[in-house]
Amino acid sequence: MTALVTATDLRRGYEIKQGWFRPPAHLQAVGGVSFALEAGKTLAVVGESGCGKSTLARLVTLIEKPSAGTLMLDGVDAVNPPASAVKTLRRTVQIVFQNPYGSLNPRKRVGHILEEPLIINTRLSKQDRRAQALDMMAKVGLRPEQYGRYPHMFSGGQRQRIAIARALMLRPKLLVADEPVSALDMSVQAQVLNLLVDLQRELGLAYLFISHDLAVVRHIAEDVMIMYLGIVVEHGPKERIFARSLHPYTQALLDATPGLGRKRQRIVPKGELPSPLDPPKGCVFSTRCPYVTDLCRTQRPLLRPLDGRLVACHYAERFLEVQAA
Ligand SMILES: Nc1ncnc2c1ncn2[C@@H]1O[C@H](COP(=O)(O)OP(=O)(O)O)[C@@H](O)[C@H]1O
Ligand code: SF4
Ligand SMILES: [Mg+2]
Repeated sequence: MTALVTATDLRRGYEIKQGWFRPPAHLQAVGGVSFALEAGKTLAVVGESGCGKSTLARLVTLIEKPSAGTLMLDGVDAVNPPASAVKTLRRTVQIVFQNPYGSLNPRKRVGHILEEPLIINTRLSKQDRRAQALDMMAKVGLRPEQYGRYPHMFSGGQRQRIAIARALMLRPKLLVADEPVSALDMSVQAQVLNLLVDLQRELGLAYLFISHDLAVVRHIAEDVMIMYLGIVVEHGPKERIFARSLHPYTQALLDATPGLGRKRQRIVPKGELPSPLDPPKGCVFSTRCPYVTDLCRTQRPLLRPLDGRLVACHYAERFLEVQAA
């Protein structure tokens, strides 16, 4: 089976102005990310703020073009699509953002917000559009009488339901969810996550689910990809990685997550996150890793297969032995 999404060595850099008399600096926001995602499945992308998650989301949703690399969506070259495929491609993937306040037009009623994609992309009659909007509202747990209300009349969780409904109006195959519950209260987070799980089952959606919080992806993803400073440090089946992670950065993230960390030998990263304008030369994690050696400081470890996942650490075998002991 071919995957719904295949990303190969995706890169995206930005030129950063440094004032009048200095040349612009180059910031590599996404530094070579590869993954495959099958229809109906979820890949979680996890890492702390600034590691390139939203940039990756913009590349996969065609909001921005990569500086290099390839992206195949549903069998179509999404970086340089043939003209005939552009329209279908745009319908294949949709995005939900973190902030349900900013992403909904405050001057439009819910009904209009949901029907807008249909107005732009289909020739459905007004009646049919309304029927489809009401149908989608029911799917995401909104009531028909809320059709005529404005976004400010809803709670944060309900607004995120509206954003999800809008994203699904054109029946995409892939939904990119960029921190969809990070702005919500804990109790509401669970409700929205459950909704996403139900919608996935009902509609056969694939999710690229982005979060800075491993606890959030625990129940939603088949695969997990851990990013640090724009690159992938560990990537594989969620069970493998949660049970026995082989990268010190993943271990630190797990140890910082209540209920997921280990009681003994907790890893706490040293110091601060380096500037993405001046990333470490060798291993990206070398300035904060408790196990760092001279080799780590000079040579970037490749992302390589080990124990049923991919990991980018020179000493990953040791963690396999230690944790098996
Ligand atoms: N349009 C942009 N111009 C310049 N720098 C950017 C731009 N978008 C993102 N960045 C930088 O790229 C890095 C990754 O950002 P982002 O993808 O938003 O990370 P995350 O979503 O994981 O917090 C950050 O250092 C950020 O400042
Ligand atoms: S390569 Fe070295 S610095 Fe990087 S994570 Fe592994 S042990 Fe730590
Ligand atoms: Mg982000």
